[in-house]
Amino acid sequence: MPRIFSGIQPSGELHIGNWLGAVQNWVRLQQTYDCIYCVVDLHAITGKYEPAALQRRTWEMAVGLLAAGVDPNRVTLFVQSHVPEHAELQWLFNAVTPIGELERMTQFKDKSSRFESVPAGLLNYPVLMAADILLYRADLVPVGEDQVQHLELTREICRKWNAEFGGGEDYFPEPKPLLTQAKRVMGLDGQSKMSKSLGNTIGILEPPEEVWAKLRPAKTDPARVRRQDPGTPENCNIYALHGFFSPPETVATVAHNCRTAAWGCIECKKVLSDNLNAQLDPIRARAAELSAHPETVVELLGDGAERARRIARETMREVRERMGFLARD
Ligand code: TYM
Repeated sequence: MPRIFSGIQPSGELHIGNWLGAVQNWVRLQQTYDCIYCVVDLHAITGKYEPAALQRRTWEMAVGLLAAGVDPNRVTLFVQSHVPEHAELQWLFNAVTPIGELERMTQFKDKSSRFESVPAGLLNYPVLMAADILLYRADLVPVGEDQVQHLELTREICRKWNAEFGGGEDYFPEPKPLLTQAKRVMGLDGQSKMSKSLGNTIGILEPPEEVWAKLRPAKTDPARVRRQDPGTPENCNIYALHGFFSPPETVATVAHNCRTAAWGCIECKKVLSDNLNAQLDPIRARAAELSAHPETVVELLGDGAERARRIARETMREVRERMGFLARD
């Protein structure tokens, strides 16, 4: 059975961009594949962060994923730092990773411009991502579009390592990305990708009144200035979100009522808010239930880490041997 691996950073809330772009696919794929999903806390220390917040967010991310439908009876769900082999393999992959490729990464270029002194972890971030995926010799990686470039680099690291240390064999399979229809969900500013670091998100566990407080001022078609101006749905991010959350007949009504100015943007957003909340309500309820039983979550993350480590240890045994390290005993 092909193996799936994917990860998500606990650097903020689980938002609808993550959900539509990746996590819905995680849930769908768990029916048919051997899936390993990871809260990648080691990735979340590549910028400035608060240790206490990291711990809380790692926990909340695990709860969010479970509430969104990741089923611990079908998949292996764990926290990255609970499996130290990720960091070990990352170090070994540094041996075959060209620094020029790391400097070329769009996310590195974007994020490094925000630092006066750039942390080395920010540059090496994609090497850790390659280690995450290849440690489990995964075939497929469900992600949003922003991770595709990192995945290309993973493929390159994989090829180089196989050529140098594989002993004529492709020990690591080359993983392929799996995208959804919503591979790049735009943020509430209507201009940039929905992203934790840009503060333009809607969290899947936010209460309905907060969802509305964020949707109400969200950017719509910039050419529609007054209520009576007809709008162009194709230029409106709220319309794009209707496409993900409203049934097709509502999407058609929204388009018509926008073009004819029969609805103002607030009416249109109200419908979106109702449809969004209808989908988020059961997720919020499950999250509340899980939060009331933290011991269950602790236990299943422990089981997940144990299962992941069994695979990781075996890979590392092979990798160490192939790379020429002296055996321990
Ligand atoms: P992260 O934590 O930023 O995002 C988690 C997943 O959500 C997707 N995503 C989006 N998809 C569509 N529209 C958006 N606006 C949007 N924002 C985020 C991301 O593409 C991702 O799939 N480096 C990764 C985490 C990672 C990982 C891995 C992923 C670490 N190791 C190994 C796959 C395999 C990241 O920062 O994702």
